[in-house]
Amino acid sequence: MFDLFSLYGPALRLMDAERAHRLTVWALGRGLAPGLVPPGAGQADEAALALTVWGRQFRNPVGLAAGFDKNAEAVAGALALGFGFVEAGTVTPRPQAGNPRPRLFRLAADRAVVNRMGFNNDGMERVAARLQDFRAAPGPRPGPVGINIGKNKDSTDAAEDYRRAAARLGPLADYIVINVSSPNTPGLRDLQAASSVRAIVRATQAGLGTTTPRPPVLLKIAPDLADADLDAVVEAALAEAIDGFVIANTTIGRPAGLEGRHRTEAGGLSGRPLFDLSTRVLARAYRRAGGRVPFIGVGGIASGADAYAKIRAGASLVQLYSALVYDGPALIGRIKRELAARLAADGFAAVTEAVGTDAGRFL
Ligand code: FNR
Repeated sequence: MFDLFSLYGPALRLMDAERAHRLTVWALGRGLAPGLVPPGAGQADEAALALTVWGRQFRNPVGLAAGFDKNAEAVAGALALGFGFVEAGTVTPRPQAGNPRPRLFRLAADRAVVNRMGFNNDGMERVAARLQDFRAAPGPRPGPVGINIGKNKDSTDAAEDYRRAAARLGPLADYIVINVSSPNTPGLRDLQAASSVRAIVRATQAGLGTTTPRPPVLLKIAPDLADADLDAVVEAALAEAIDGFVIANTTIGRPAGLEGRHRTEAGGLSGRPLFDLSTRVLARAYRRAGGRVPFIGVGGIASGADAYAKIRAGASLVQLYSALVYDGPALIGRIKRELAARLAADGFAAVTEAVGTDAGRFL
């Protein structure tokens, strides 16, 4: 079938990366569907791909990662592309501009992206208003919408920012993600220290208060933690009754062999070069948690084989962002078809049966 991305993709890639991204979100937000939505996106997913996590139903396990739709402008559009769920954000209590431009770079030769956006977002009030509209729209909701929360750059009380964001956005979220792993807010990743994690998880839960139904609270982790620190974060979060983990955020590392001329730009690297590292970290954390909570696996997924590897490493759900820049929205259907075929070939009747079956290989 003809994929229109083969026409407009090259045009987008000629533009500055942030402008191309803005245009894409704008178009998705307005439902300019005929050109954007790939053939077959509206088709029902294979039954083997459906699963229930945290009591919420997912028609497939392939989600849109945080950072694409920071302001919840295109949630319905992203679900219409065939994603099983969408994570909006990162959203901070107050609006903020983020870092000076340029701050988003393509490394096309590496199928990677470097960004130092710095939590540019409209702030929780405007995002909440958009989510309210989305939820008020008639008809069944096609998939869960998670909300990823962070702290303002100039905030002096991190825990209070997470508490406020959770209080405002929790009632509108199918799940909440505590982001303490972006490399682009000074000091943020220091919050991954076990004692800070405990305080921030507690503050987030306090913010949710008696919200009913209470959304599960997940913690998003960097791929750059030393093994002992990773173990400590997982244990600290579990001790505070965290409901799950998102692994991983972008890396400040620059794996050998990168070719893109922007490889030395400051910021977080995502896309293909992040796959191996983020999958190893996922498997380690999964083993550490020992089945106590579900994981979302993210980092470098660009095929059904990649998604399947994340699932076998311990992910119940997966997400992607960077590969969309290079492959366009037809990738979503391709990943789902390949994933269903691989599950069937290995004799798994459902995604859940495959979760973690390879986690031991990453010792
Ligand atoms: C991100 N990511 C991200 N994560 C997050 O928790 N909050 C955010 O605001 C952002 N912003 C953001 C912007 C851009 C431009 C990119 C490329 C990424 C990280 C993202 O959710 C994901 O964890 C990584 O990008 C790894 O997945 P991919 O891109 O390799 O599929």
